[in-house]
Amino acid sequence: MSASVAARRLAAPDIRARKGGDPIVMLTSYHAHTARILDQHCDVILVGDSLGMVMYGLETTIPVTLDMMVLQGRAVMRGSKRALVVVDLPFGSYETSKEQAFTSAARVLKETGCGAVKLEGGERMAETVHFLAERGVPVMAHVGLTPQAYNALGGFRPQGRDRADWAPIEADARAVAAAGAFAVVLEAIAEPLAAAITRDIAIPTIGIGASPACDGQVLVLEDMLGLSPWVPKFVKRYTSLGPSIEAAVTAYAADVRRRAFPGPEHVYSLKGKGP
Ligand code: KIV
Repeated sequence: MSASVAARRLAAPDIRARKGGDPIVMLTSYHAHTARILDQHCDVILVGDSLGMVMYGLETTIPVTLDMMVLQGRAVMRGSKRALVVVDLPFGSYETSKEQAFTSAARVLKETGCGAVKLEGGERMAETVHFLAERGVPVMAHVGLTPQAYNALGGFRPQGRDRADWAPIEADARAVAAAGAFAVVLEAIAEPLAAAITRDIAIPTIGIGASPACDGQVLVLEDMLGLSPWVPKFVKRYTSLGPSIEAAVTAYAADVRRRAFPGPEHVYSLKGKGP
């Protein structure tokens, strides 16, 4: 493979082609520095609307705006070179009509340079997914627990734990696949249901609180780094960044208070040899 081919940024069709193949690795990022690190290890970087909760301390993703998504999407594009960057369409920016969805998606693609958008919803969004896909907007769908429906769902509750509830979730996944989504996130749904959907549909499924059988996995970066104060059951914490940051800040505050920082190595002396 030539260097130029190796360096090419992954695109939606590359991810679509991974159905049933090597697991797709996806994490969220909202900033250039974390994007730079993730880019070496992830196939997809998601600029998720979870940024509303993680960066802005909001209780849900509902108040997140298109402006917020565009700003952080740009930062992540600057920090990454290889991964496919997917930017969430926030609540209220795509549900009114397929035309509204196209206007919002076009703005995100133009102003961030990202390769795809993600939107929440299954059967009810299928027509919109088709409209966008036909007009050159790669769409990742998101079904199961859809956090933007927090008020309608009455909280963040896992879905499909009763077999009687499976049919609409399966229908959602089938609908977005048939409509032309290149992949679909399955969030917080019963494991056997996620596995069944993964077997059933032709596009890659990306699980979060779903199943190891999914074609890929995603987590919110700050959750898996141990920075978020509370995380759902499905999160595995790979480190404890919160306590590490706290220890560093405690040491810094003590150094400043006893004038141990800055030291001679951190200050600028005058040019020349003398004092
Ligand atoms: O906004 C987000 O971070 C997401 C993931 C949880 C999939 O949509």
